[in-house]
Amino acid sequence: MRAVLVTGATGIVGSAVLDHLLARGERVIAAVRNPDGAKLPDGAQARSFDFAMTSAEFDRVLDGVDRVFLMRPPQIEDVQRYLFPFIDAARRNRVRQLVFLSLQGVQFNKRTPHHAVEQHLKASGAPYTFLRPNFFLQNLSSIYAEEIRDRSEIYLPAGRSYTAMIDARDIGRVAAVVLTEPGHVGKAYTLSGEHPLSYHKIATEMTRVLGRPITYARPSEADYLARLAAQGRPADYIAVQKMIYRMVRLNASALPNRVVRKLTGQPATTLREFVHDYRDVWQPEG
Ligand SMILES: NC(=O)c1ccc[n+]([C@@H]2O[C@H](COP(=O)([O-])OP(=O)(O)OC[C@H]3O[C@@H](n4cnc5c(N)ncnc54)[C@H](OP(=O)(O)O)[C@@H]3O)[C@@H](O)[C@H]2O)c1
Repeated sequence: MRAVLVTGATGIVGSAVLDHLLARGERVIAAVRNPDGAKLPDGAQARSFDFAMTSAEFDRVLDGVDRVFLMRPPQIEDVQRYLFPFIDAARRNRVRQLVFLSLQGVQFNKRTPHHAVEQHLKASGAPYTFLRPNFFLQNLSSIYAEEIRDRSEIYLPAGRSYTAMIDARDIGRVAAVVLTEPGHVGKAYTLSGEHPLSYHKIATEMTRVLGRPITYARPSEADYLARLAAQGRPADYIAVQKMIYRMVRLNASALPNRVVRKLTGQPATTLREFVHDYRDVWQPEG
């Protein structure tokens, strides 16, 4: 049986993709930078991989592979240099499907690296499937977790806006379906949750589950950017956050949908389920 190669396999989405492919009995190769140190589920085979590798090394990574789950690591801005050669190698090795983890609304936002990757996949005639997820619920359990745990506060300049966030585990579920069932090549799927969520609602749900008050601070843009600067965040990170939350305040990510349900036969994970499953992350230590 030929294998599915999963990039970003130690990451939030990639690990969910691994789990769901293995549950479907697929042969799965986790493409990881550190095969000895990577924590992978039983049944996944680790293979050394870095987007900075040479074309010849890509050919070896792709040996025995017929499908690829492709993601752009947040650390990589220059996709032309690091992702395009890998896509070209996948074409050369006759990979029959590349499922790319893109971004909700990417078709309207030509300045994102994801847009460039989508364009390259199309232009090179690759057999692509685009997954365009909304904001991940897991942002609350990763990048924002410390603030929620230590200050009991969600500190984001989202105003009174709504976001139809999606659980990354649902993206993994969808990826496994589109990689193993026919009819998904050449398709693009926007993946949102089934309910638009305000940050006030999220704070209320966390308060209920955690049993202590969690507040949504609703800072102004200026206060938020000043806090990021005080935390020593780099200028380009701060500029991206500014742009992202301007779009969020315009409700550009508010629209829910039922694409997860349509593709997998099960509804998207709810906020309540997510907060319950991840509750330990926000409990103060000791
Ligand atoms: N967060 C959101 O709300 C959201 C919404 C829509 C789309 N997205 C997109 O989703 C993607 C992020 O997915 P994620 O959250 O699952 O990522 P993540 O958890 O940050 O994981 C990043 C993965 O990339 C790997 N990696 C880093 N540098 C690499 C390199 N040079 N070569 C090979 N692998 C490398 C890491 O492996 P190591 O173990 O080796 O470090 C890790 O597995 C981004 O493209 C982001 O724009 C995010």
